[in-house]
Amino acid sequence: MNVLVIGGGGREHAFAWKLAQSPKVQTVYVAPGNGGTALDSRLKNIPIADVVALREWAQANKINLTVVGPEAPLAAGVVDEFRRHGMRIFGPTQAAAQLESSKAFSKAFMQRHGIPTAAYEAFTDPVAAHAYVTRMGAPIVVKADGLAAGKGVVVAMSLDEAHAAIDFMLLDNKLGVMHNAGEGGVAVPRVVIEEFLEGEEASFMVLCDGKDVVPLATSQDHKRLLDDDQGPNTGGMGAYSPALVVTPQVHARAMREIILPTLKGMEQDGIPYTGFLYAGLMIDPQGQVKTLEFNCRMGDPETQPILMRLKSDFLDVLLAATEPGGLENRELEWDRRTAMGVVLAAYGYPLAPRKGDLITGLPVESETAMVFHAGTEQVDGTTRTNGGRVLCVTALGENPRAARQAAYEAIGNIRFDGMQYRKDIGHRAVRPVGEGAKATR
Ligand code: AMP
Ligand code: GLY
Repeated sequence: MNVLVIGGGGREHAFAWKLAQSPKVQTVYVAPGNGGTALDSRLKNIPIADVVALREWAQANKINLTVVGPEAPLAAGVVDEFRRHGMRIFGPTQAAAQLESSKAFSKAFMQRHGIPTAAYEAFTDPVAAHAYVTRMGAPIVVKADGLAAGKGVVVAMSLDEAHAAIDFMLLDNKLGVMHNAGEGGVAVPRVVIEEFLEGEEASFMVLCDGKDVVPLATSQDHKRLLDDDQGPNTGGMGAYSPALVVTPQVHARAMREIILPTLKGMEQDGIPYTGFLYAGLMIDPQGQVKTLEFNCRMGDPETQPILMRLKSDFLDVLLAATEPGGLENRELEWDRRTAMGVVLAAYGYPLAPRKGDLITGLPVESETAMVFHAGTEQVDGTTRTNGGRVLCVTALGENPRAARQAAYEAIGNIRFDGMQYRKDIGHRAVRPVGEGAKATR
């Protein structure tokens, strides 16, 4: 079979790497791919991004299955476009992808279907938004309604910060994220303001065929740029799997209270959900689980450690997931070891990442360590930085501590000018014996 992976980040490198291991796969194409997928002889980069052009290319090249990585093509309707032409593709339709692309849609959906999440209100009027935060007090969370690449959320610890965030997002529309929420469908900025939740976060992802779901291994991301969860928010600086905070009880609750009602609710609303579904969970010290957000895709960098632990054939399960009811009674087999991925980011990330720096010292792939590329490209036989998150060095170990050691060892001789990475990935899993779970914001 020929498979097409849409996207060019670390998540897509991991998808392609895993799919290429299936004995049924002939070639994995990656559009547009990156410097890592370019280097792997089993993978082939295709420089196409437009949704219609991708569909035409996939038809002309007899692609049997397409898998979508990032949210942008999903929100642009790539799944609808492929399906209209009878092409097999795994992902949510444009309507279903609103679970991620519109915070107001997903919050209203959760409220309507009784799915636990922070209390909230949506605003287009800055005066009303200011009055609301004054009434509610701090800490409080202000979110731009729309895809803002991780920059649209302000966890305001003071009222001043909350008011500034409202002005930034609504009054001045600095993020430029618009919604057809104005009178007569006019595009205006909109914010969701919600209750601050305390607890520990985890990433909970499942595969959905529209009716049935199969959970993937759990994981935990590290969103802040610097050690000890300091500095600005990023797309994610490292992740590991499994997440210890997701105990069997928390897992059962997340399935029963969040995932299954979401699938059912989407079906009831006439927008059956197919594709990866990612629930960002906040788990409080009593083990209560609330939904921070939905993503309509897999997480990056969570995908890299998760797929390093997947023992089942990835192609098989994705093919099954593109048939209604195809996931019924299916289970995936996981390596019982821990996988940990450390992101190496470019100079200037997250605000203004520099491109073009020479990367040296890349190790060869091994059974227990893999360097997934993200913002890289091949230039005249050299590998250069080409984006904010450059590499995700991922390794397996017998336990979180061993996985962490292996991941940092695997970074070894990798160098590029301005390289930045966190030294404490997995800190919530690697803690002295006897110390309880640390509650974080
Ligand atoms: P989101 O893009 O909605 O996941 O938000 C990004 C990050 O902001 C999350 O990973 C949390 O760390 C934090 N966050 C979002 N919503 C809340 C909330 N209601 N309470 C506390 N922290 C939040
Ligand atoms: N790592 C978080 C995300 O992919 O949204």
